[in-house]
Amino acid sequence: MGAMTATTTAGAQDLPAVFDGEFWADPYPAYAALRERAPVRRLDLPGGPVWLVTRYDDVRTAFTDPRFAKDWRWTLPPEQRADAPSTPMMILMDPPDHTRLRKLVSRSFTARRMAGLRPRVEEIAAELVADLPAEGTVDLIARYAFLLPVRVICELLGVPAQDRDEFSAWSATMVDDAPQEAKGEASAKMGAYLGELAARKAAEPGDDLLSALVAVSADDDDRLSGEELVAMGMLLLIAGHETTVNLIGNALLGLLTHDDQLTLLRERPELTKGAVEEFLRWDSPVGTAPVRFTTEDVEVAGTTIPGGSVVMLGIGAANRDPDRFPDADRLDVARDATGHVAFGHGLHFCLGAQLARIEGEVALRTLLDRYPSLTLAADVDDLVYRRSTLIRGLTTLPVDLGGGQLTGARRPSRRGPRPR
Ligand code: HEM
Repeated sequence: MGAMTATTTAGAQDLPAVFDGEFWADPYPAYAALRERAPVRRLDLPGGPVWLVTRYDDVRTAFTDPRFAKDWRWTLPPEQRADAPSTPMMILMDPPDHTRLRKLVSRSFTARRMAGLRPRVEEIAAELVADLPAEGTVDLIARYAFLLPVRVICELLGVPAQDRDEFSAWSATMVDDAPQEAKGEASAKMGAYLGELAARKAAEPGDDLLSALVAVSADDDDRLSGEELVAMGMLLLIAGHETTVNLIGNALLGLLTHDDQLTLLRERPELTKGAVEEFLRWDSPVGTAPVRFTTEDVEVAGTTIPGGSVVMLGIGAANRDPDRFPDADRLDVARDATGHVAFGHGLHFCLGAQLARIEGEVALRTLLDRYPSLTLAADVDDLVYRRSTLIRGLTTLPVDLGGGQLTGARRPSRRGPRPR
């Protein structure tokens, strides 16, 4: 672990590629090399230089360090900052604006409301499973892992069912490695749609989150502007579309490639809650946190990151740090994985963490209970991951359902795969 000197990365020439080549299929060897040899690494990405932080302690500390700000204007020379437009989206803001918005949305996003959603999440999962064939091969990303969180977030926000597909396409374009122009267009369309939807909710409020946010924006001296309301709706929809799908997909692949863990989870359903934490740690759905900007020079692990730099906190790398999690590369659904940073940490800690955990638990349990002998229907090496610097997740997950348990679909299978 040689000490790093300011902004140089000694011995970095032979480090594995990041966000390129082999990295997408398995980023963990690259993360391990970085943690050891260049724990704060400057990457020259097509969009410009980015600093990637990979050790658990450094990542966790940075999450709570105000010198790692969210306001992009820190990248500008001081004299240009005042005239540059701010971004109205909470995840891209710092206090005091972030504090104001977070407080307002938290009011509608209570723990009670989230816990109250569990029965509905169970119903949706059961409907999706009922739509799957009794046996044969299906893509569980498209037919299950994606649809569950999308239906939940659309219902929660009050987006009509017929508009879901269009939404999903916009959301994917905004998060993936798409051209900047396409991203801008998708974002504009989603914004316009949400503006119209909010106007309809104002006229005819429903029992949904968007109506609640519209109500908040209408009273309290306009403390949530129209622009902020649309940005909040977009944030929640994107977060609901792009993250939990990967928790479910990555978890299923983890189980299908680790027979012992699959058997254990079948035999001991009570481990499911803890297993979800382990999946969040072991193959984190948000691989790197949305970027931060240094407000001044900041030294991390002996390296100075200059003020005005773009910084990525390596969630996936931190969660595999052997200095924090013993035998970190091993998937162990029975381990205590708490302390992982899959949902971030500090001020921007994921607002939807509780909902995502419920969805993950319900998705795994429902599927395992219905299908006692699931197997991967592809070579692991042929599976393709999304090319996103943010998200870690599969494009498809072909699975042989192996024949369902046609009676007592909700009864846990205690004995693992049985002969048919
Ligand atoms: C497994 C699923 C999920 C993962 C791994 C995840 C991960 C994260 C992470 C890492 C952050 C922190 C970002 C940062 O510090 O820059 C975050 C923030 C956020 N997440 Fe999630 N998320 C998930 C699901 C959800 C869901 C389902 C929702 C909405 C229903 C949601 C809404 C949000 C919001 C609104 C923020 C911004 C909070 C703020 O800026 O104060 N997330 N999420």
